[in-house]
Amino acid sequence: MKEFLLPVLLLCALCRASVQYPFEESLEFKPLERNNLLASFNFRINSTEFELYEPDDKTFHYSTFSKLLGPILRETNTRELHLRFSQGWYDPEVYGELPLKGKHSGGTGVELWALLEGQNEESVFKDWIKLVNSLSGLFCASLNFIDSSSTTYPATVFQPAAPVLDQGLSLKNDLFLLRSALPREPVCTENLTPFLKLLPTKGKAGISSLLTGHKVFNSQWSSMSIDVTTHCSGTKCHYEMEQFINLILDVPMTLERNRMPIPKPTPGSELKCDPTKPFDAFHCFPLDDISQLEFSLTDLFGKKIQGGALLASRPTKVCADLNLDSWSMEVQTDIQTTPTLEGEKTCFVIEDTNEYNVLFKVKDTKRIKPLKSPPIFASRSLSGYSQDSGGFRIDVKNPTDQDSDIVIFESIPWFVRIYLHTLTLTINSTITHIVSDPQFDQYVKGIIYNPAIDRQKPSHLELLVSIPAHTKIKLSLEFDKAMLLYAEYPPDANHGFEIEPAVISVLDRDSHKVVYEMRTTTALLTLPTPDFSMPYNVIILTSTVMSLAFGSIFNLLTKQTVTEEEAESRAKESRVTRLRFTIKQRVQRIKSLLRRS
Ligand SMILES: *[C@@H]1O[C@H](CO)[C@@H](O)[C@H](O)[C@H]1NC(C)=O
Ligand SMILES: *[C@@H]1O[C@H](CO)[C@@H](O)[C@H](O)[C@H]1NC(C)=O
Repeated sequence: MKEFLLPVLLLCALCRASVQYPFEESLEFKPLERNNLLASFNFRINSTEFELYEPDDKTFHYSTFSKLLGPILRETNTRELHLRFSQGWYDPEVYGELPLKGKHSGGTGVELWALLEGQNEESVFKDWIKLVNSLSGLFCASLNFIDSSSTTYPATVFQPAAPVLDQGLSLKNDLFLLRSALPREPVCTENLTPFLKLLPTKGKAGISSLLTGHKVFNSQWSSMSIDVTTHCSGTKCHYEMEQFINLILDVPMTLERNRMPIPKPTPGSELKCDPTKPFDAFHCFPLDDISQLEFSLTDLFGKKIQGGALLASRPTKVCADLNLDSWSMEVQTDIQTTPTLEGEKTCFVIEDTNEYNVLFKVKDTKRIKPLKSPPIFASRSLSGYSQDSGGFRIDVKNPTDQDSDIVIFESIPWFVRIYLHTLTLTINSTITHIVSDPQFDQYVKGIIYNPAIDRQKPSHLELLVSIPAHTKIKLSLEFDKAMLLYAEYPPDANHGFEIEPAVISVLDRDSHKVVYEMRTTTALLTLPTPDFSMPYNVIILTSTVMSLAFGSIFNLLTKQTVTEEEAESRAKESRVTRLRFTIKQRVQRIKSLLRRS
C-alpha cells in the first residue's frame, strides 16, 4: 500500500506546485462603531479564454469558472452581469460609508443589471428574459417574475464596469443595459448555497467554509454580490467574476445569542446600570455598550476556517483593519502563525489544510480607526395617506465641503402614476418648482423621464442634481394610485406593495464616473384594496338562504298533512302492512306443519 501512496503523494505535491487556477480569495474584518464588525469576503475567478462569437467553441473549458453560469452567459450574449442580494438596513451614521464605495451593495431584495449584446431591443429583451429565468433557477430566487413591467434601460447610473470594447475587439452588435429589481424577495439560505456552489471550494475549504446560512442572515445587514465582466484582447475573451459577501455583525448580540438561543430578559442581578444616573432595585438605566470583548471566529460563525483554498493562485488571506492600541488579533492553529502588519492592516495567510481560528481581544471597543463618512446621506419616504394619491419625498444632504453632482434613479411600478409637473426642489428652505422657476434648472441639471405604460413598462426617472456644499435638498413628487384588477393582487393577505429603493450615485465632476453609490430603503405603499371577504360573505349568505328555502319548499311540495286516525287507517291499507300480514301467515303455517311432523 505504502509503495502506491508515496508516488501519488509526490505527484500531488508536484501538481500543487505547478497547476495554479485563476482563483483568489480574501477575508477582511473591520470594527465599526457600537460594537459592530464588518466582515468582507471576496472571491475572484477568471475563466479560460474563448472565442466570443463561437458558442460551440469546443476548446473552451471552464476550469474554476462555474460551468453553471458560463453557458447561460454565452447563450444569452451577456457581456456583463451584476447581481445583488441584500437584506437589513445599513445605517451610514453608525457604519460609515458603504463597503467598496457602495459599488457592490444592492438595495433590499434582489437587484440585477446586465449588459447584453444584440441586434435590436426585441432580440435583446428575449435574451434578457432567458437570462432572468435561468438565473432564477440557479439562485432559487423569484427572478422569473421579472418582465417588461419591471425592466428599465438606465442611462447614467449603472455604468458598465469594464470596457468590453476598447481592447482591439469590434463588437458585431450593439450593447444594451437592462435592469430590474425585486424588493419583496426575502434573501435566505437557499440563495447562499448556490452562491457558494459557484466557487471551486464549494464552501468546504478556505474562507467560504465560514459561511452558513443561519449565521450570515442573522447579521444586521448582509449583501451578496456577483459581478461577471468580459475582457477581450483580439478576438480572444475571458470572463472575470468577482463575488463579495459583506456582513455587519453586532458582536455582543451574536455572543448573547450563542449563550442563550432563545432570548430572555436579563435577570436583575446581571444588569449593569449606568452609575451616572440614579438606580436602585426597581430602576436601572442599563449601560448601553460593552467596552471589553473577547471573541473568535467560532463565536461569530460557529465554525473555524477549514484550511486554505489550495488550488488558488494566491494563498488565502485573512486581514483585519484594527486600531492596535486597543485591539489585538491572535491566530489559533496547529502550526505557529503570527499575523504581520501589511500597510494599515494586520494579515496572515493560510497555505495548508489545518483548521484556523482567529481570536480578537479588545480593551476598549470604542477605540476604533475613524470611519469614513459617506459623501451623501439620503432617505426617501412616502407622504400622504389618501386612498388614491400620495407623494414621494427624497431628502439628500451633502455634508462635504465641495459641491457634488448626484444622480437619483427611480424605477416606479406602473400602478403608481407619477406627475412630473409636480416635482419641486427645496434647497435649505427655498422652494423651487419645475414648471415655473428658473432657479430649478440651476440645481437640476438634467432629467430623463420615461413614463409608464399600464402593465407593460415602469416609470423610469433619472435626475441629475447638483448639491452645494453643506446643503440639504428635498425633492418631492406627487402620484395617483391605480386600481388593479382583482387577480393582480397577491393571493394571500398582503401588507402592501413594495416600491424598490431609489438608487443615488455621486458622480465625479470631471469624468462623470460614479464614485459612490447608495440605495434608500424600500417604500411600502398601500393601494386601494377591494374587500376580498365580501364575495365570500355573499356566497355564504345565499347558500344559507337557499338551503332553508329549499328544505321547506321541498317538504311542502312532497308531503301531505293528515290526522292520526287517518294515518293509521291508511297504514292498514298500505301495501307494506298487507305484505307483513301474508308473511306472518305463511310463517305460522310452516311452524304448524313442522310441529305435526
Ligand atoms: C484575472 O485576469 C486579470 C487579467 O486579465 C488579472 O489581472 C487577474 O489577476 C486575474 N485574476 C485571477 C483570480 O487570476
Ligand atoms: C444651506 O445652509 C447651510 C447652513 O445651514 C449653508 O452652509 C449652505 O451654504 C446653505 N446652502 C445654500 C445653497 O444656501
